[in-house]
Amino acid sequence: MSFITADDVRNADDFLLVGPGARLTPLARDLANELGVEIRHVNGPAGGAGNRARVPGRGQPGAEALASVPAVALDDPSAPISSSNLALPPSGAMYRRGTPLAAGIDRGRDVLRSSPPAATAGSSADRVKVGVVGAGHVGAMTALRLAECNLFRQVAMVDVTPGLAAGLALDMWHGSGLCRFDTRVVGDEDPTVLSDCRYIVVTAGSPRKPGMTRTDLTDVNAAVMRSVGSSIAQHAPDAVVVVVTNPLEEMTHVMQNATGFPSERVIGMAGVLDSARFRALVGLTGVAAPSRVHAYAMGSHGPEMVIPLSQATANGRPVSELIEPTTLAAIVERTRDSGAEVVGLLKTGSAYFAPAESAASMVRAMARDSNDVLTACVRSGGAYGLVDTRVGLPVRLRPDGVDEIVTLDLEPGEIEALQAAAERIAVRVAAAAEG
Ligand code: LAC
Repeated sequence: MSFITADDVRNADDFLLVGPGARLTPLARDLANELGVEIRHVNGPAGGAGNRARVPGRGQPGAEALASVPAVALDDPSAPISSSNLALPPSGAMYRRGTPLAAGIDRGRDVLRSSPPAATAGSSADRVKVGVVGAGHVGAMTALRLAECNLFRQVAMVDVTPGLAAGLALDMWHGSGLCRFDTRVVGDEDPTVLSDCRYIVVTAGSPRKPGMTRTDLTDVNAAVMRSVGSSIAQHAPDAVVVVVTNPLEEMTHVMQNATGFPSERVIGMAGVLDSARFRALVGLTGVAAPSRVHAYAMGSHGPEMVIPLSQATANGRPVSELIEPTTLAAIVERTRDSGAEVVGLLKTGSAYFAPAESAASMVRAMARDSNDVLTACVRSGGAYGLVDTRVGLPVRLRPDGVDEIVTLDLEPGEIEALQAAAERIAVRVAAAAEG
């Protein structure tokens, strides 16, 4: 018996012929449904069926034989196909992308596809490659999250520690069958593994230790950003970069300078994380489950965090109607300090589950072109009357990065708090840029 895998489905054009003795894996069946690839079973003797081999692609020996597959009887799953009217290769999967269609085969859906579909991740061979720089806890968990969603062709991890990224990648790949993903996970210490990545999450750098502020990391991590940024510019010049390394606003700025990319393509991750922490803490009060709480954490990923309560809702109602002001103020304060709270508990290391999921969700939002509004550290460029620096603001992400900064209907006091935050952030960013 031979098996038709998800790769066969991904490489198929509009349909895939499944020969006698061949079986579709569950993942291949799911993927075929998802991609609209029709599975056609063919019975009867077929040359060499049962001994699966790679089917030749265009220009490879044997492709001509495939090209001569006639349309006859293919719509009738029970119709036998004899070796006289079907030159089948010794494989279960018999029709692949790139193989010219024989005259007479229905091209209806090709006509529909005469203008290519938007290149969204998950659509057949258009799946893009993503990269993660830094294979510490945040990087490794981000890579796993990105692999598990099965949206991407490949997740490439890089870390300077010999063997670390390769070992973790291999470990993740070992679990791929259990977790049902076929995104290839690879790792290396050589940044060339990032070549052609569409999205790259940068987690490299030193994490905080108990008692340290994020700003204490500026000099050491700015040097890492400069080195990583120049590698990214060299190997993945079209990538959108999501910076996770702290201090976030400064590192996002340094990364943009190091890559030379437009600001739309260099974004900092923290608003998603800080908003999630606020939601989780509101959830602890019992007014709503975290998934039913909505809020935007803006400003900085640190002391200048601003969470406009006018925009915060739980079960669709303003949180200020559900939670008394002192409790809400304490929740905002605890959100701001959540990273340090975790560092204090762990003692050796910082948070990684929620940060990794936050970074992965930003990449997924772009890859899926989800149109979601989420907060990210972006170049403010005068939005909300802010000084032009790097600030956490609500944005709409598109596959190419930031599409627009979304203007929320904030109260005057909230806008003032945001403006004061931006002023303070601008000083730190300017200092880091000079360093
Ligand atoms: C934290 C890191 C990601 O807040 O800054 O946990």
